[in-house]
This record gives sequence, C-alpha cells and structure tokens, in this order.
Amino acid sequence: MEYQTIGISREGPVAVLTLNRPEALNAMNSAMARDLRQSLESLSKDDSVRCLVITGSGKGFCAGADIREMAGLSSTEVARAGSLLSIWETVGKYPKPIVAALSGFALGGGLELAMCCDIIIAAQGTKLGQPEINIGIIPGGGGTQRLTRAVGRYKAMEMILTGSTITAEEAASAGLVSRVVPAAQHLQEAMKVAQTIASKAPMAVRLAKQAVSSAEDGTLSDGLRHEKQLFLLLFSSKDKDEGMKAFLEKRPPVFTGE
Ligand code: CAA
Repeated sequence: MEYQTIGISREGPVAVLTLNRPEALNAMNSAMARDLRQSLESLSKDDSVRCLVITGSGKGFCAGADIREMAGLSSTEVARAGSLLSIWETVGKYPKPIVAALSGFALGGGLELAMCCDIIIAAQGTKLGQPEINIGIIPGGGGTQRLTRAVGRYKAMEMILTGSTITAEEAASAGLVSRVVPAAQHLQEAMKVAQTIASKAPMAVRLAKQAVSSAEDGTLSDGLRHEKQLFLLLFSSKDKDEGMKAFLEKRPPVFTGE
C-alpha cells in the first residue's frame, strides 16, 4: 500500500518506516498519524515482519506535531478519538519491537514518538527536547510521563519548563537514548540492531518487550509476578526447546515462532 506521508521498505524480517514530510521537518499532522496508524496495523498482522525501524527523511527525525495544523484546532478536535493525538498511544502499545533511528531534530511529538519506541539510536548532532512551552502548550504525546521515567524528575523538569534542547551525547548519559553513533550512520546501526532482534525467537522477543514495558506501569512486585508468568509461558514453546538444544549441540538455533 502507498502512503502520502510515510515510506515503507523491507529488508527481510525488518520493516523500515520513514516519516516523509521533509519540507516541514517531518512534523506529525493528521495525515501522517493516519498513515502511520494504518501501516502499523497491517505490519502487525504480517508474521514475516519481526521488528520495525522508524526514521525520518531529510534534515531530521521529527520536529513535533504540526504547529500549522494544530494552530487552527479546538480542544475537542484535538481530543477526538483516532485523531492526531492518539498516534503516540498506538505506537507505545505496539506489540513488536521498534527501533527509532534519530538524526537532526527529535523535538516535541518527535521525541515523544522516539520514546514510544523500544530502542533509540541517535546520530551525533541530533537535538532532543520538549519545546512545547515555547508555544504556550505542554507535551501531549506522553512526554511529561515518559521523559520523567527516562531521565528523572529534575532533568525532565528542566527540559519541559525551559523548552531547551539537549545533545545526543547528553541524552545518552541521561539514559534517554540507547546509543549515539557517528553522523549519518543512525539508520545503518538501527538496522543492525533490528536484524539481530529479528533473528531471535519471536515469542520470546514479544514477551520480553511486554515484561520490560510492565516495569514502567506498576509496582515492582506486580512487575516481578508478570515477568515470572511470561517466563514460565516460554517453557511451553518449541523455540525454547530448540534454543537450548542448539546451545548444547554447539550450533545456531533455527527458530520457527512456535
Ligand atoms: N510544525 C509545522 N511546521 C514545522 C514544524 C512543526 N513542528 N517544525 C518545523 N516546521 C517547518 C517550518 O515552519 C519551516 O517551514 P517553511 O519553510 O514553510 O517556513 C520548515 O519546517 C523548516 O523549519 P525552520 O525553517 O524553522 O528550520 P530551522 O532549521 O531554522 O529550525 C527547528 C528547526 C528548531 C526544529 C524549528 O523548525 C522549530 O523550532 N520547530 C518547531 C519545534 C516545536 O516547537 N515542536 C513542538 C511542536 S508541538 C508538539 O509536538 C505537541 C505534542 O507534544 C504532541
């Protein structure tokens, strides 16, 4: 299927989604949110897709929600189900792993989109921030919650209350990105990580994502209970038998997803 605002390509089990509105620094408008939602839905049904990479075309990843479009919207229009604002939740709840490949700018809704992903690879020179305060609003795609969980109250407050940006290196030392790579190598590195994830047992990958995500949602004892349930579940999978057998036989495993 062809989309107007995003590109989709495949490299074996990895699908790459490229935000493609370079004339607006890939700002997220409702057309892009709709395209992203539809493409994620169809990729989630395709069992041959094991991992996703999200990146941006042109000068950077994404400069946030589209201010030109938002300027004319009322609160009811923004809040409507299925509108622009629900895209961050959709990405945040996606069951397959997503690697974000950042360059240039990851601002506002762009940083919030990256934080909805599972691994963030940032090129040197990337600027990250929540500049919404500069235009009289606050983050609305989960930034106040996800950023605070990632970097802690004091760094998050400084970024959100001042609207200032931080460098990729500062983001890495604050725990906001997984890794900083040389300029222009972000996509290549993200692809390597995604291919590695795609080579693992699919059910274990899915449940690992679920278990780690639940660490952010509830108490430690709830999270530990959930992890144990998922761990035990994998002991009835064929891939667990194959993975352990292959290790003992000193050969690479052949996973089938069962
Ligand atoms: N929405 C709409 N258009 C945007 C945009 C955005 N978020 N960010 C950039 N653009 C457009 C600019 O209007 C400009 O278009 P024209 O050429 O038609 O004027 C084009 O992209 C290039 O941008 P600049 O000329 O500004 O490029 P620059 O290199 O000088 O500056 C920048 C880059 C610092 C990222 C600057 O564009 C900027 O500050 N953008 C806005 C960032 C922002 O405030 N993001 C938060 C949005 S609100 C949000 O995201 C809410 C939420 O939580 C869901």
